[in-house]
Amino acid sequence: MGKFEVMDHPLIQHKLAMIRDKNCGTKDFRQIVNEIATLMAYDVSRDMPLEDVDVQTPEGVAHAHKIAGKKVAIVPILRAGIGMVDGILDLIPAAKVGHIGMYRDEKTLKPHEYFVKLPSDIAQRQVFVVDPMLATGGSAIMAIDALKKRGATNIKFVCLVSAPEGVKALQKKHPDVDIYTAALDDHLNENGYIVPGLGDAGDRLFGTK
Ligand code: PRP
Ligand code: URA
Repeated sequence: MGKFEVMDHPLIQHKLAMIRDKNCGTKDFRQIVNEIATLMAYDVSRDMPLEDVDVQTPEGVAHAHKIAGKKVAIVPILRAGIGMVDGILDLIPAAKVGHIGMYRDEKTLKPHEYFVKLPSDIAQRQVFVVDPMLATGGSAIMAIDALKKRGATNIKFVCLVSAPEGVKALQKKHPDVDIYTAALDDHLNENGYIVPGLGDAGDRLFGTK
């Protein structure tokens, strides 16, 4: 079974409390989502492999380390995942970015895929799938299906708020995928929204509604 980690760093928890507030406006919401994504990326990238390098400093040779091997692809699930991309790119600027478009049918709560555009070498990359919300898990599962179909094997899922139902479903369907979240909330309501959650992440990020 992949890792399941609730990232309880005080800065992450503080910022999450700010965006949960229904009075947090679009501008602040967008900025803070990116800030949380940066903080989460620091730990999500902790197991990236290193290689030894000798670096000539002004005073001698340092036996140092650089990141080796697999390169990173950040794959936001549209729309709301877009809100986390810049924050991760701040830490990993050489990452490539793929996009998977997914919307949830409001009645059935089933996801529908409408767009997939990935780096051509996705199979060789460490993939960070990002979406602020893991509710029923349907969107994350279908996005990861789409990635695996195209050869991706090394996948981590990064979200801000998750529901127990979604975590369980994602772990069942993709047990190899590590899940990182800033909070594990209580439950889903009858409309498939996370309670207490933070509402509709896409609408709050983009000011729609
Ligand atoms: C939201 C959210 C996730 C999905 C989570 O997207 O950003 O992608 O719902 O729900 P699930 O775990 O039950 O699938 P939504 O479908 O509202 O689309 P949007 O980002 O375009 O608003
Ligand atoms: N999508 C959201 O944006 N919020 C939820 O609570 C559930 C799904």
